Amino acid sequence: MDFKLTEEQLMIQQAAREFAHQQCLPGVIERDENQIVPKDQLKQLANLGFLGMMTDPAYGGAGMDSVSYVLAMEEISKVDSSVSVAMSVNNSLVCWGLEQYGTEAQKQKYLIPLAQGMKDGELYIGAFLLSEPEAGSDATHQHTSAVKEGDHYIINGVKNWITNGSTASVYLVIAQTDYTKGHKGINAFIVEKNTPGVSVGAKENKMGIRGSDTHAVSFMDVKVAAENRIGEEGFGFNFAMKTLNGGRIGIAAQALGIASGAYELALAYSKERKTFGKPIHEHQAIQFKLAEMATKIETARLLCFKAAWEKDNHLDYTTTAAMAKLYASDVAMWVTVEAVQVHGGYGFVKEYHVERLMRDAKITQIYEGTSEIQKMVIGRSITR
Ligand code: CAA
Repeated sequence: MDFKLTEEQLMIQQAAREFAHQQCLPGVIERDENQIVPKDQLKQLANLGFLGMMTDPAYGGAGMDSVSYVLAMEEISKVDSSVSVAMSVNNSLVCWGLEQYGTEAQKQKYLIPLAQGMKDGELYIGAFLLSEPEAGSDATHQHTSAVKEGDHYIINGVKNWITNGSTASVYLVIAQTDYTKGHKGINAFIVEKNTPGVSVGAKENKMGIRGSDTHAVSFMDVKVAAENRIGEEGFGFNFAMKTLNGGRIGIAAQALGIASGAYELALAYSKERKTFGKPIHEHQAIQFKLAEMATKIETARLLCFKAAWEKDNHLDYTTTAAMAKLYASDVAMWVTVEAVQVHGGYGFVKEYHVERLMRDAKITQIYEGTSEIQKMVIGRSITR
């Protein structure tokens, strides 16, 4: 067993750390406050090759491994999870799915610019449209319909909670074609946002990741060519599930970054702040908190690495990815609450960042499968 990172992985980690500090930290509080989408930061990520990190260079990607992706996600999420969630969705849910299951024509037309993150000098990213008002955790319960008519499908319905909802140029849309077949009647489609009949709803006013644009997207008689269907007829639900397995590694790494960002701030503060004549980290009450934070974070990191390693080695990573997300998101929530506590009153004001990290942590227990869904995935796997 080798826990040592390679030279390349260390370089990626360093590049992500510098990017987070130099490009994401300035203005992060204002972007959060005013719900400003970090488009400049996303363009810079595209230039770094981080929007298609794991995609084959033949399709516009950087050809890195999943461990590198975890490292980059952790560093960026320490500072700004509104940037890292857009990066995660584009990498895991959009580019990976297209690379694995798309046709050569789909890859040439969509994957290359999506992995590059740019087209004609403009930001070009994707979004993953599975959730609906009545189909969140119960994802087979799709109301959005895709009716086949000759060489195209007509899509009608509403999708909810869509990350990158207005920033994305391309949507991967999950919709039901044959209601008699249950989840085997579901298809996945590539739909360009500017297709007639597609409309983006108002931006959600969220507790956390406020720079990330979350929208409902509706489809009214949207005509999509059959050649834009991903995989065989009826493959859409399996496509969504397989794609989400990798997405869960990304969100686990995001949660890890939120936790380690809050821990680093709490540690630094505990060395500066003095009470009763000594730095507060010398008080056992604080030192024990820091020790517990560090231990939980290291455990979460190992789970993220293991899931990424399994993926890189073509093993079944479904269960480990679910464990990593379940555990890391709980750690993020716990650590950020404790980091606010270590900061005392200062932790409750925005300048110290930990209150934002605490708000951002919550969503990691919800999106890409709630903690309860992760327990279902793990439970089914260990009892079958
Ligand atoms: N990996 C691969 N395949 C899977 C899978 C997984 N993790 N989970 C289920 N499947 C497959 C099953 O093998 C089965 O396939 P076959 O019929 O071909 O054998 C099929 O999917 C149906 O599975 P189930 O019978 O288990 O379906 P279910 O309805 O009982 O439960 C579920 C499925 C696991 C609960 C699923 O609905 C689920 O994961 N729900 C959560 C959805 C989710 O994560 N939503 C997040 C939204 S996306 C998002 O948040 C993105 C964003 O913008 C940030």
